[in-house]
Amino acid sequence: MTKTNIGIVGCGFIAEQYAAAMAAFPHLNISATCDLDIQRATALAAQYDAQAYADLDTLLRNSDAEIIVNLTIHSAHHAITKQCLHAGKHVFSEKPLALTAAEANELVMLAEANGVYLSCAPDNVAADAQQLTATLLNDNAIGTVKVIYADCSLGRVPAWNSNPEHFLNIGPLWDGAVYPLNLLISVFGPVKQVLSAHHSLLLPEQEHAGRTFTVQTPDHSTAILEMESGVQVRLTASMYTPYQSKHFYSIEFHGDAGSLYLGNCGDLSWQSGAVELAPIGQGYAGVALERDAMPRTYGSNVAEMAWALQGKTPAYVATGKRAAQVVAAIEAMYAF
Ligand SMILES: NC(=O)c1ccc[n+]([C@@H]2O[C@H](COP(=O)([O-])OP(=O)(O)OC[C@H]3O[C@@H](n4cnc5c(N)ncnc54)[C@H](O)[C@@H]3O)[C@@H](O)[C@H]2O)c1
Repeated sequence: MTKTNIGIVGCGFIAEQYAAAMAAFPHLNISATCDLDIQRATALAAQYDAQAYADLDTLLRNSDAEIIVNLTIHSAHHAITKQCLHAGKHVFSEKPLALTAAEANELVMLAEANGVYLSCAPDNVAADAQQLTATLLNDNAIGTVKVIYADCSLGRVPAWNSNPEHFLNIGPLWDGAVYPLNLLISVFGPVKQVLSAHHSLLLPEQEHAGRTFTVQTPDHSTAILEMESGVQVRLTASMYTPYQSKHFYSIEFHGDAGSLYLGNCGDLSWQSGAVELAPIGQGYAGVALERDAMPRTYGSNVAEMAWALQGKTPAYVATGKRAAQVVAAIEAMYAF
């Protein structure tokens, strides 16, 4: 079987899960790893018989990796992806694509100019519940949609993240709002304008592993957005509201003829009852998938990119352009 060689840059927490998910595809081969912390790169490389590199430049010059999977921290994404695209590599990046619209668009144009694929997490739009939601909306199942409530309750970051200071200083829009925005933009077009936005810092003093630190970035944001289609979205992203909230990553769509509820817009697997529909005047009832579930993993988008490179038609590949629209939306919310 033809194998496409993969290089992983950024060998922290999420890299273990990505590597395992990619290794489950027989046509992918993890051939190179790289991290500022060479011990992390070496430890991951050892599990997959790959070569570890201490710097990206050496990896790009010497390894046989065709696709680079960028799993570094948010603030490093743009520079790493740019360097890889310049080297003629295809890139899949963790979210966000960049931290400014100008930088995100630069990457999209660079990929186009070099004739390489550029894709970006989250991969949620391709998952079963999100596909079912999009189909129902496009089929007018609840009539014209005029109001949407989208929530991301990331919870108290030190409770679930080993590097909480970085995540708290990036904030809930860049780390969480990317999930609903990615789906909403795929169905309703890019954000046309921000009608209102408010950002608060509710818990500036944080503690992790016996060390205290002060957060600078708002941990709770609410915005009202108008999408290109005209629909109005109330989006809240918070590192204050707990993830056990009834609105973890939910989106509720309200149309002229009814409402549609997607319980977790970030879920890559299908759960019964994930999508519920309520005609006006009636209660919610679950909508069946009506085909076999096709759960996705952290490896799915990279696998499809590799199939495309091997000349097989992929179901779904480059999402760089939409990822840039997500970045532009968040930038506009902070600028309001
Ligand atoms: N932690 C999660 O639950 C989670 C879930 C989904 C997606 N993600 C995304 O994955 C990305 C990484 O998250 P993480 O939790 O693995 O972070 P992490 O801090 O555990 O790992 C990041 C790694 O990148 C390395 N790195 C940073 N800058 C680098 C550079 N310039 N060159 C090479 N290596 C560099 C760091 O040394 C570190 O090992 C983030 O974009 C995050 O949003 C994280």
